[in-house]
Amino acid sequence: MKLLVLHGPNLNLLGTREPEVYGSLTLAEIDAAISELAVELGVEVETFQSNSEGALIDKIHASASSVNGIVINPAAYTHTSVALRDALAAVAVPAVEVHLSNIHRREEFRTRSYVAPVVVGQVSGFGVDSYLMGLRAIFNHIKKGLSEGP
Ligand code: DQA
Repeated sequence: MKLLVLHGPNLNLLGTREPEVYGSLTLAEIDAAISELAVELGVEVETFQSNSEGALIDKIHASASSVNGIVINPAAYTHTSVALRDALAAVAVPAVEVHLSNIHRREEFRTRSYVAPVVVGQVSGFGVDSYLMGLRAIFNHIKKGLSEGP
């Protein structure tokens, strides 16, 4: 099984970016925790961060035929991007949306996710654990689908 983890804009600044909201872990440390869990689950994981909406969309298109599932933190594009939502809907790859912070208890504009209707589910508010729970969730979701067959 191969999974893709996508990080959206400004997540490259984790560690120094609003640590009271997003915690003190760097993106490299989050990716290391993801890799550790991938070994435990016995899956291959690729991680990718971009500040560009187009680059994230291109990555989804390019990975569509080679990955079984996607974990995505669309960051600010969560609340703005019809194009990212359409990309996820266009590829037949199950995805989980994750957020470090709880987007439902922050500013009103963050409570709206364009991505939520096209993903299997959302994990929000648990810091790095949002990614790890998201990874486990998509892993279990895919495994269930595989064992149930067509
Ligand atoms: C975020 C929440 C978004 O509202 C914000 O724009 C981000 C990060 C999170 O992980 O909590 O950049 O997706």
